Amino acid sequence: MQKNRRQFIQKMGASVASMAVGSAAIASNKPAPEILHSSIRVSANDKIRIGLIGAGIIGHFDTDTALRVPGVEMVAACDLYTGRIEAAKEKWGKDIFTTRDYRELLNRKDIDAVLICTPDHWHQRIAIDAMKAGKHVYCEKPMVQKIEQGYGIIETQKQTGKVFQVGSQRASAAAILEAKKLVKAGTIGELTFVEAFCDRTDSRGAWQYSIPRDASPETIDFNAFLGNAPKVPFDPIRFFRWRNYSDYGTGAAGDLIVHLLTGIHVITDSMGPNKIFSLADLKMWKDGRDAYDVVNALMQYPKTSQHNAFHVSTRVNLADGEGKGGFGIKLVGTEGVIDIGWNEFTYRTLKRKSAPGYGGYDSFESFSEKGKAEYKKWYAATYGDDMGGYTIGEEKRFDSPKGYDDRLDHMIVFFNAIRTGSAIVEDASFGLRAAAPSIACNLSAKLQRPIGWDPVGMKLVG
Ligand SMILES: NC(=O)c1ccc[n+]([C@@H]2O[C@H](COP(=O)([O-])OP(=O)(O)OC[C@H]3O[C@@H](n4cnc5c(N)ncnc54)[C@H](O)[C@@H]3O)[C@@H](O)[C@H]2O)c1
Repeated sequence: MQKNRRQFIQKMGASVASMAVGSAAIASNKPAPEILHSSIRVSANDKIRIGLIGAGIIGHFDTDTALRVPGVEMVAACDLYTGRIEAAKEKWGKDIFTTRDYRELLNRKDIDAVLICTPDHWHQRIAIDAMKAGKHVYCEKPMVQKIEQGYGIIETQKQTGKVFQVGSQRASAAAILEAKKLVKAGTIGELTFVEAFCDRTDSRGAWQYSIPRDASPETIDFNAFLGNAPKVPFDPIRFFRWRNYSDYGTGAAGDLIVHLLTGIHVITDSMGPNKIFSLADLKMWKDGRDAYDVVNALMQYPKTSQHNAFHVSTRVNLADGEGKGGFGIKLVGTEGVIDIGWNEFTYRTLKRKSAPGYGGYDSFESFSEKGKAEYKKWYAATYGDDMGGYTIGEEKRFDSPKGYDDRLDHMIVFFNAIRTGSAIVEDASFGLRAAAPSIACNLSAKLQRPIGWDPVGMKLVG
């Protein structure tokens, strides 16, 4: 790789988010300039060749997005369902290598990096095998299905030195990175708590995905899908709607709270909570699933060198009757609030007066006339005419540039790390620190008690 180009991409890596979301965007209340990724020039030997493992819903999004990064080429796809192998050839070319066995894909010398987009119960095994086979890994969230699976990935990444990034794109999202600047600058005072939610209403939102009409033991390698999960007879519902079963997925908490915690951890530079308490139920989608559809969780984040102690209250509601849908992270500080949607946020600050004021809903109203007169006199002598209270500042808004795609920024971070060795925020330790408390919500709901977690040592405690 030429030096100039490396320097250029390094610069891009460091500044891609800030180019997209410069503070000027907030000050002027106008969209920031488009990301300049399209101006990356790549020489022929600078290509990064990728293979996709798991060509389902997100496999398509991730691959299409990766291919928007200059110099990235698609050479192979692996999936267990014939229809998805056909679809991969239709979309990415009839000459790509395809297989049902991911080990065949990993054996190929022409692949530099893999995107792991399989169900959760396969993430750890494939990620470890891939890094050992010399591939860089972009592994979808949650990094692992079971907390203890995280250690093997962390260890293998250290041993192999391969780039490993978890695919919760909130880690690179413009709105998250810009909100982080405000929190770090103390704009909303001391962070006291965070409310974070993900609400869905319709059946696809609740993971009742379409099942192709040709689904059969001939078109699907069901045994390979099961892997180490308990053996059950062929069942296309389990195959296409695996999220609804704890044998393969991590439930609403592991699947969706992980996105929320990823955002919160990036903004606060937190390693995670030390206590997790959750209540969960299956309220509506009683289709044979064993996953909850309503989860409410409280988490305690202890003080660290990076932040003061704060609480997180979070929920996933797949049975939401309000019907607005949505995803939000609201950071409430002592002097303001930031309300983040997906690619945008609003914020406002608040100023308290130093004088306490009196009257209204106050003990002053219960004083005798004499007592009131005495108090007024004393107050005027002490505080003058300052009647206390607070003022709420004007609401300001940040919008990511039109057409902004946080997944693309996340891919750029991944490929820049491969090309230049630049840092990965959502590495294996970060991935476990976001996944574990999310997965622990299931355990807390089941045991009906708080779960202790050591966010530094990454271990369940108590
Ligand atoms: N980052 C995000 O926004 C986001 C969004 C959706 C899903 N995801 C994550 O992506 C992953 C995939 O989710 P999905 O909705 O695309 O699932 P999906 O069911 O649509 O696709 C999964 C595919 O993996 C294949 N597969 C299963 N086991 C395999 C194996 N051992 N080897 C090769 N292929 C195998 C299946 O054939 C299937 O086509 C999950 O971990 C999910 O949590 C992330």
